[in-house]
Parts: sequence; C-alpha cells; structure tokens
Amino acid sequence: MDDFVSVAKTTDLSDGEIMLVEVGDERIALSRIDGSFYAIGEVCPHAEGPLSEGIVDDDEVECPWHGSRFNVKTGEVTSPPAGEAVARYAVRLEGDDVLVGPA
Ligand code: FES
Repeated sequence: MDDFVSVAKTTDLSDGEIMLVEVGDERIALSRIDGSFYAIGEVCPHAEGPLSEGIVDDDEVECPWHGSRFNVKTGEVTSPPAGEAVARYAVRLEGDDVLVGPA
C-alpha cells in the first residue's frame, strides 16, 4: 500500500479492542490502546492464525490458535511459538477517521 486509506471510525474500537480491516489483499489488525490506534499484520506467521480474534492484554495480542504473543504497537513477537514479527503499519487520524498507511 502506497498511501493512507480510511479503514475505520475512531468509535469502531474501544480501548483494549482489536479488529480486522482489509486494504486490498492485506489483512491488518487494528487495535486501540489508551486512546491511540495501532495497526499490525493480522495473519500470525506461525500457522496463519487470525490475530484480530485474539485477546488484547496491555499492549500485546495473543494468537487464538497456539498462544503466540505480539506487541500491537511494533509487531514484534513477545512469546513463541511464532518466530518472526508481523508488519507494522503507519496510522493517522483525520477527524473521526482512522487511516492506515504503508508498512
Ligand atoms: S497460528 Fe498463531 S500461534 Fe500458531
């Protein structure tokens, strides 16, 4: 993705929630932590589990399939079995629109 795209309204997520948004064929997990929005790759690199269906705990999301944990702000793995990070996307707000940009 080369440009910022509107993917949600700020009211679509409460603090501690995560949701799937799709831009083209990219699956992105959009989360809200302490009023700020973050976007990381939605597909767990371990076995393609859906991170948008995971539990958010502080600034981490736990994959619902085998329990890998990722930092929702950076995409880094914080607990195995996944061995690699997911992409982190730029996020921008315009009014009550949440825009996601390049990884
Ligand atoms: S698919 Fe996510 S931990 Fe296995």
